[in-house]
Amino acid sequence: MTSRAVVLGGASGIGAATARALAAAGHAVTVADLTEEGAGAVVDDLPGTGHAARRCDVTVETDVDALLSEAGADGNLTAVVNSAGSSTLGLLTELDEAEFRRVVDICLHGAFLVLKHAGRHVADGGAICSLTSLNARQPAAGFGPYCAAKAGLVMLTEVAALELAPRGVRVNAVSPGLVDTPLTAPAMDIPGVREDYLANTPLGRAGTAAEVADAVLFALTTPWLTGEAIDLNGGAHLRAYPDVHGHVVRAFG
Ligand SMILES: NC(=O)c1ccc[n+]([C@@H]2O[C@H](COP(=O)([O-])OP(=O)(O)OC[C@H]3O[C@@H](n4cnc5c(N)ncnc54)[C@H](O)[C@@H]3O)[C@@H](O)[C@H]2O)c1
Repeated sequence: MTSRAVVLGGASGIGAATARALAAAGHAVTVADLTEEGAGAVVDDLPGTGHAARRCDVTVETDVDALLSEAGADGNLTAVVNSAGSSTLGLLTELDEAEFRRVVDICLHGAFLVLKHAGRHVADGGAICSLTSLNARQPAAGFGPYCAAKAGLVMLTEVAALELAPRGVRVNAVSPGLVDTPLTAPAMDIPGVREDYLANTPLGRAGTAAEVADAVLFALTTPWLTGEAIDLNGGAHLRAYPDVHGHVVRAFG
Protein backbone atom coordinates (compact mmCIF):
# COMPACT_ATOMS: atom_id res chain seq x y z
CA MET A 1 0.00 0.00 0.00
CA THR A 2 1.28 3.51 -0.83
CA SER A 3 2.39 5.38 2.26
CA ARG A 4 0.53 8.59 3.07
CA ALA A 5 2.00 11.99 3.88
CA VAL A 6 0.11 15.02 5.21
CA VAL A 7 1.23 18.61 4.61
CA LEU A 8 -0.51 21.27 6.73
CA GLY A 9 -0.24 24.78 5.32
CA GLY A 10 0.30 23.01 2.01
CA ALA A 11 -1.58 25.39 -0.29
CA SER A 12 1.29 27.83 -0.75
CA GLY A 13 5.03 28.41 -0.79
CA ILE A 14 7.18 25.89 1.08
CA GLY A 15 4.23 23.64 1.95
CA ALA A 16 3.15 23.35 -1.70
CA ALA A 17 6.74 22.61 -2.78
CA THR A 18 6.98 19.95 -0.06
CA ALA A 19 3.72 18.34 -1.21
CA ARG A 20 5.17 18.14 -4.73
CA ALA A 21 8.44 16.62 -3.45
CA LEU A 22 6.57 14.03 -1.35
CA ALA A 23 4.34 13.09 -4.28
CA ALA A 24 7.38 12.76 -6.54
CA ALA A 25 8.92 10.46 -3.91
CA GLY A 26 5.89 8.17 -4.23
CA HIS A 27 3.63 9.20 -1.33
CA ALA A 28 -0.10 9.70 -1.53
CA VAL A 29 -0.28 13.26 -0.18
CA THR A 30 -3.06 14.95 1.79
CA VAL A 31 -2.69 18.70 1.36
CA ALA A 32 -4.46 20.70 4.08
CA ASP A 33 -4.92 24.45 4.45
CA LEU A 34 -7.44 27.08 5.51
CA THR A 35 -9.55 26.42 2.42
CA GLU A 36 -10.11 23.15 0.58
CA GLU A 37 -9.99 25.09 -2.69
CA GLY A 38 -6.45 26.32 -1.97
CA ALA A 39 -5.32 22.82 -1.06
CA GLY A 40 -7.12 21.40 -4.10
CA ALA A 41 -5.26 23.67 -6.50
CA VAL A 42 -1.97 22.13 -5.30
CA VAL A 43 -3.35 18.57 -5.37
CA ASP A 44 -4.49 19.03 -8.99
CA ASP A 45 -0.86 19.41 -10.10
CA LEU A 46 0.70 16.59 -8.05
CA PRO A 47 2.23 13.62 -9.85
CA GLY A 48 0.89 10.17 -8.90
CA THR A 49 -2.42 9.10 -7.39
CA GLY A 50 -4.27 8.90 -4.08
CA HIS A 51 -3.85 12.56 -3.17
CA ALA A 52 -6.49 14.50 -1.22
CA ALA A 53 -7.30 18.11 -0.34
CA ARG A 54 -8.69 18.99 3.08
CA ARG A 55 -9.65 22.14 5.00
CA CYS A 56 -7.82 22.40 8.32
CA ASP A 57 -7.07 25.34 10.58
CA VAL A 58 -4.07 24.34 12.72
CA THR A 59 -5.36 26.47 15.61
CA VAL A 60 -8.58 24.41 15.91
CA GLU A 61 -8.04 21.08 17.66
CA THR A 62 -11.10 19.38 16.17
CA ASP A 63 -9.82 20.23 12.66
CA VAL A 64 -6.32 18.87 13.32
CA ASP A 65 -7.67 15.75 15.04
CA ALA A 66 -10.11 15.01 12.19
CA LEU A 67 -7.44 15.52 9.51
CA LEU A 68 -4.82 13.30 11.10
CA SER A 69 -7.30 10.64 12.34
CA GLU A 70 -8.56 10.23 8.79
CA ALA A 71 -5.06 10.18 7.27
CA GLY A 72 -3.86 7.64 9.83
CA ALA A 73 -6.96 5.41 9.81
CA ASP A 74 -5.38 2.63 7.75
CA GLY A 75 -2.11 2.64 9.74
CA ASN A 76 -0.15 3.86 6.75
CA LEU A 77 0.59 7.51 7.66
CA THR A 78 4.38 7.77 7.54
CA ALA A 79 5.09 11.52 7.23
CA VAL A 80 3.53 14.72 8.57
CA VAL A 81 4.83 18.19 7.67
CA ASN A 82 3.55 21.36 9.32
CA SER A 83 4.25 24.39 7.13
CA ALA A 84 1.40 26.62 8.38
CA GLY A 85 2.71 29.99 9.44
CA SER A 86 2.03 33.70 9.64
CA SER A 87 3.85 36.79 10.87
CA THR A 88 3.29 40.42 11.76
CA LEU A 89 5.40 43.56 12.14
CA GLY A 90 5.35 45.78 15.21
CA LEU A 91 7.55 46.75 18.12
CA LEU A 92 6.58 45.08 21.40
CA THR A 93 5.71 48.45 22.93
CA GLU A 94 3.18 49.09 20.14
CA LEU A 95 1.88 45.64 19.26
CA ASP A 96 -1.79 44.79 19.80
CA GLU A 97 -2.21 41.88 22.20
CA ALA A 98 -4.63 40.25 19.74
CA GLU A 99 -1.98 40.32 17.02
CA PHE A 100 0.60 38.75 19.36
CA ARG A 101 -1.89 36.00 20.18
CA ARG A 102 -2.79 35.44 16.51
CA VAL A 103 0.80 34.78 15.45
CA VAL A 104 1.65 32.63 18.49
CA ASP A 105 -1.63 30.76 18.04
CA ILE A 106 -0.70 29.70 14.51
CA CYS A 107 3.07 29.26 14.88
CA LEU A 108 3.28 27.66 18.35
CA HIS A 109 -0.13 26.57 19.63
CA GLY A 110 -1.04 25.20 16.19
CA ALA A 111 2.32 23.47 15.99
CA PHE A 112 1.57 21.82 19.35
CA LEU A 113 -1.80 20.57 18.07
CA VAL A 114 -0.13 19.13 14.97
CA LEU A 115 2.58 17.40 17.03
CA LYS A 116 -0.07 16.07 19.43
CA HIS A 117 -2.29 14.50 16.76
CA ALA A 118 0.51 13.56 14.35
CA GLY A 119 2.18 11.84 17.30
CA ARG A 120 -1.01 9.83 17.91
CA HIS A 121 -1.71 8.83 14.32
CA VAL A 122 1.62 8.52 12.52
CA ALA A 123 2.72 4.91 12.09
CA ASP A 124 5.54 3.48 14.20
CA GLY A 125 8.81 4.41 12.49
CA GLY A 126 7.22 7.44 10.82
CA ALA A 127 8.48 11.03 10.85
CA ILE A 128 7.24 14.56 11.55
CA CYS A 129 8.81 17.81 10.36
CA SER A 130 7.85 21.37 11.32
CA LEU A 131 8.93 24.62 9.67
CA THR A 132 10.63 26.88 12.17
CA SER A 133 12.77 29.85 11.04
CA LEU A 134 16.09 31.66 11.15
CA ASN A 135 14.16 33.83 13.63
CA ALA A 136 14.14 30.92 16.08
CA ARG A 137 17.78 31.76 16.77
CA GLN A 138 18.20 35.30 15.41
CA PRO A 139 16.08 38.06 16.99
CA ALA A 140 14.58 40.75 14.77
CA ALA A 141 13.13 44.04 16.00
CA GLY A 142 9.45 44.14 15.04
CA PHE A 143 9.06 40.34 14.85
CA GLY A 144 8.55 39.56 18.54
CA PRO A 145 5.69 37.03 18.42
CA TYR A 146 7.11 35.26 15.36
CA CYS A 147 10.63 34.96 16.87
CA ALA A 148 9.27 33.77 20.22
CA ALA A 149 6.89 31.25 18.65
CA LYS A 150 9.52 29.79 16.33
CA ALA A 151 12.07 29.53 19.16
CA GLY A 152 9.39 27.78 21.22
CA LEU A 153 8.71 25.42 18.36
CA VAL A 154 12.37 24.35 18.27
CA MET A 155 12.11 23.29 21.93
CA LEU A 156 8.74 21.63 21.32
CA THR A 157 10.40 19.66 18.50
CA GLU A 158 13.04 18.43 20.93
CA VAL A 159 10.46 17.42 23.55
CA ALA A 160 8.34 15.61 20.94
CA ALA A 161 11.44 13.79 19.65
CA LEU A 162 12.09 12.48 23.17
CA GLU A 163 8.49 11.48 23.77
CA LEU A 164 7.95 9.71 20.42
CA ALA A 165 11.34 7.99 20.14
CA PRO A 166 10.12 4.80 21.88
CA ARG A 167 7.85 4.18 18.86
CA GLY A 168 10.67 4.98 16.43
CA VAL A 169 8.88 8.18 15.38
CA ARG A 170 11.41 10.90 14.52
CA VAL A 171 10.60 14.60 14.99
CA ASN A 172 12.66 17.32 13.33
CA ALA A 173 12.35 20.85 11.98
CA VAL A 174 13.80 22.92 9.17
CA SER A 175 14.63 26.59 9.86
CA PRO A 176 14.79 28.53 6.60
CA GLY A 177 16.20 31.97 6.01
CA LEU A 178 14.73 34.18 3.28
CA VAL A 179 12.63 32.27 0.73
CA ASP A 180 10.49 34.12 -1.81
CA THR A 181 6.89 33.12 -1.08
CA PRO A 182 3.59 34.98 -0.48
CA LEU A 183 4.64 35.24 3.20
CA THR A 184 7.72 37.33 2.46
CA ALA A 185 6.50 39.19 -0.66
CA PRO A 186 5.12 42.27 1.21
CA ALA A 187 8.45 42.85 3.02
CA MET A 188 10.39 42.47 -0.23
CA ASP A 189 8.51 45.45 -1.70
CA ILE A 190 9.99 47.77 0.95
CA PRO A 191 13.08 49.60 -0.32
CA GLY A 192 16.30 48.25 1.16
CA VAL A 193 14.88 45.09 2.74
CA ARG A 194 16.00 42.57 0.12
CA GLU A 195 19.42 44.23 -0.20
CA ASP A 196 19.87 44.07 3.59
CA TYR A 197 18.87 40.37 3.66
CA LEU A 198 21.31 39.50 0.91
CA ALA A 199 24.14 41.53 2.46
CA ASN A 200 23.63 39.45 5.60
CA THR A 201 23.61 36.16 3.67
CA PRO A 202 27.14 34.88 2.93
CA LEU A 203 25.96 32.87 -0.11
CA GLY A 204 24.34 36.08 -1.40
CA ARG A 205 20.92 34.85 -2.46
CA ALA A 206 17.50 33.86 -1.18
CA GLY A 207 16.56 30.18 -1.06
CA THR A 208 13.80 28.57 -3.07
CA ALA A 209 10.78 26.70 -1.75
CA ALA A 210 12.01 23.61 -3.63
CA GLU A 211 15.34 23.77 -1.76
CA VAL A 212 13.50 23.89 1.56
CA ALA A 213 11.34 20.95 0.46
CA ASP A 214 14.53 18.98 -0.23
CA ALA A 215 15.67 19.66 3.35
CA VAL A 216 12.27 18.61 4.72
CA LEU A 217 12.54 15.33 2.80
CA PHE A 218 16.06 14.86 4.20
CA ALA A 219 14.67 15.38 7.72
CA LEU A 220 11.81 12.94 7.07
CA THR A 221 13.98 10.19 5.59
CA THR A 222 17.27 10.24 7.52
CA PRO A 223 16.92 7.30 9.93
CA TRP A 224 19.25 8.47 12.70
CA LEU A 225 18.10 12.11 12.78
CA THR A 226 15.71 13.28 15.49
CA GLY A 227 15.23 16.34 17.70
CA GLU A 228 17.09 18.52 15.20
CA ALA A 229 16.29 21.93 13.70
CA ILE A 230 18.24 22.21 10.46
CA ASP A 231 19.43 25.74 9.57
CA LEU A 232 18.98 26.35 5.85
CA ASN A 233 19.77 29.96 5.07
CA GLY A 234 22.84 30.47 2.88
CA GLY A 235 24.85 31.12 6.04
CA ALA A 236 22.64 33.99 7.25
CA HIS A 237 22.76 32.66 10.82
CA LEU A 238 26.47 33.63 10.81
CA ARG A 239 25.66 37.34 10.46
CA ALA A 240 22.98 39.72 11.77
CA TYR A 241 19.28 39.76 10.98
CA PRO A 242 18.34 42.62 8.62
CA ASP A 243 16.77 45.74 10.15
CA VAL A 244 13.38 45.20 8.49
CA HIS A 245 11.58 47.46 10.98
CA GLY A 246 14.12 50.25 10.35
CA HIS A 247 13.52 50.03 6.59
CA VAL A 248 9.75 50.23 7.18
CA VAL A 249 10.14 53.34 9.36
CA ARG A 250 12.39 55.01 6.77
CA ALA A 251 9.96 54.13 3.95
CA PHE A 252 6.67 54.98 5.65
CA GLY A 253 7.58 57.09 8.68
N1 LIG B 1 9.35 32.16 3.34
C1 LIG B 1 10.31 32.33 4.23
O1 LIG B 1 11.24 33.12 4.01
C2 LIG B 1 10.29 31.57 5.53
C3 LIG B 1 11.43 31.69 6.34
C4 LIG B 1 11.45 31.01 7.55
C5 LIG B 1 10.38 30.23 7.94
N2 LIG B 1 9.29 30.13 7.12
C6 LIG B 1 8.19 29.29 7.60
O2 LIG B 1 7.87 28.33 6.61
C7 LIG B 1 6.48 28.02 6.67
C8 LIG B 1 5.88 28.22 5.29
O3 LIG B 1 6.00 29.58 4.93
P1 LIG B 1 5.81 30.09 3.43
O4 LIG B 1 6.88 31.09 3.19
O5 LIG B 1 5.63 28.95 2.51
O6 LIG B 1 4.45 30.91 3.62
P2 LIG B 1 3.10 30.95 2.77
O7 LIG B 1 2.36 32.12 3.29
O8 LIG B 1 3.42 30.85 1.32
O9 LIG B 1 2.37 29.58 3.22
C9 LIG B 1 1.87 29.42 4.52
C10 LIG B 1 0.58 28.63 4.43
O10 LIG B 1 0.09 28.47 5.77
C11 LIG B 1 -1.31 28.58 5.71
N3 LIG B 1 -1.85 28.91 7.01
C12 LIG B 1 -1.79 30.09 7.69
N4 LIG B 1 -2.48 30.00 8.84
C13 LIG B 1 -2.97 28.74 8.88
C14 LIG B 1 -3.78 28.04 9.81
N5 LIG B 1 -4.22 28.63 10.93
N6 LIG B 1 -4.10 26.76 9.55
C15 LIG B 1 -3.69 26.15 8.43
N7 LIG B 1 -2.93 26.76 7.49
C16 LIG B 1 -2.58 28.04 7.73
C17 LIG B 1 -1.56 29.69 4.69
O11 LIG B 1 -2.89 29.68 4.22
C18 LIG B 1 -0.52 29.36 3.63
O12 LIG B 1 -1.04 28.50 2.64
C19 LIG B 1 5.89 28.93 7.74
O13 LIG B 1 5.81 28.24 8.96
C20 LIG B 1 6.91 30.05 7.85
O14 LIG B 1 6.89 30.66 9.11
C21 LIG B 1 9.23 30.78 5.92
